[in-house]
Amino acid sequence: MRLSAFLLNTSAKIEYYSRFSPSPLSIKQFLEFGRDNACEKTSYMFLRKELPVRLANTMREVNLLPDKLLTQPSVRLVQKWYMQSFLELLEYENRSPDDPHALNDFLEILIEIRNRHNDVVPTMAQGVIEYKEKFGFDPFASSNIQYFLDRFYTNRISFRMLINQHTLLFGNDTNPAHPKHIGSIDPACNVADVVNDAYEMAKMLCEQYYPTAPALKIKEFNAKAPDKPIQAVYVPSHLFHMLFELFKNAMRATVEHNEENKDDLPPVKAKVTLGKEDLSIKISDRGGGVPLRKIDRLFNYTYSTAPTPSLNSKRVPLAGFGHGLPISRLYARYFQGDLQLYSMEGVGTDAVIYLKALSSESFERLPVFNKSAWRHYQGGPGADDWSNPSKEPRDASKYKAKR
Ligand SMILES: Nc1ncnc2c1ncn2[C@@H]1O[C@H](COP(=O)(O)OP(=O)(O)OP(=O)(O)O)[C@@H](O)[C@H]1O
Ligand SMILES: [Mg+2]
Repeated sequence: MRLSAFLLNTSAKIEYYSRFSPSPLSIKQFLEFGRDNACEKTSYMFLRKELPVRLANTMREVNLLPDKLLTQPSVRLVQKWYMQSFLELLEYENRSPDDPHALNDFLEILIEIRNRHNDVVPTMAQGVIEYKEKFGFDPFASSNIQYFLDRFYTNRISFRMLINQHTLLFGNDTNPAHPKHIGSIDPACNVADVVNDAYEMAKMLCEQYYPTAPALKIKEFNAKAPDKPIQAVYVPSHLFHMLFELFKNAMRATVEHNEENKDDLPPVKAKVTLGKEDLSIKISDRGGGVPLRKIDRLFNYTYSTAPTPSLNSKRVPLAGFGHGLPISRLYARYFQGDLQLYSMEGVGTDAVIYLKALSSESFERLPVFNKSAWRHYQGGPGADDWSNPSKEPRDASKYKAKR
């Protein structure tokens, strides 16, 4: 096929697949599929369409970013990865699952695709930093990029979830340490254990930076079955990711805020609760807090108060990319939960992770490329429709009624 015909054909395929909306699955569905003699052919038939649909939806949306951002080398590289993976998946469009090598080849290609996309987040972040350095950020571009990255990274989380379920269930990379897991899901995930693991990991990192770290105090309130440990049907690696990020933040704030008191740091407290609808985990620190005015900003992808760590450094950074909170919130929202911060300036911060208590309610929350998403990227920023406090004190004498 000539190059121009090939490109035309590929963009027609992207357009075709992007017309389908992704099909969200619940944790319960992932579990039931994996548990009842999971059928590799069924999974193959589902994924060979669902994966290109999810890719195409996000690839169309990438094109709505400002041109100057799209032409940054890092963003181009990411686009190249997406294109290559999309084309590789199309090879299976018409390949019967009964073809003797189809299932095996598909499994291998999924692993290759997953590895290719390993560095999407830091590479994309690099592109955004390059763009910001060259052109600056106006509030409109900034809110579009924030909107886009939330959706793009959610899409990526979901894409990896689907790939991992398939490769863990049908490949050789099953984890012998967790024979009861269904793919990446633990049907009886002990939440306090994950809290402890994430704390220990963050503590190790914290002690490398400051020679100290706050202690952990953990409490459980199981309103459904008092005295029983709280268990979740969840992806432990997602939960670990969120908790690890919250602990790193809480520890950094605690150590920096209590510099004179390094030998007697206030502990970080974790509270795990289970109700009918929500499973919640609160991480509380006495790290001095953040003023309300700044809270929303903490979820911006480029906001950090730590120095930017070098990408080439071998040392894992404790903070500095500004991605910890926004990405953790995406993990929480991905299965219909949330992550919120409540801070009291001068004292400390509570960060709460909300998860659905029932796996039947934990449906994937997925971005869809459609008209209303498209509209988000159009038009300029509207005029503020709330009053702005004037900077100068008003000279009241001007307004004195003439008598
Ligand atoms: N518990 C907390 N107490 C005080 N400030 C906090 C707390 N959590 C977050 N912050 C502030 O929010 C900023 C953004 O946090 P976030 O975790 O997103 O990025 P980061 O920690 O700077 O870098 P990284 O991407 O490595 O996590 C931090 O730089 C810090 O200023
Ligand atoms: Mg952080």
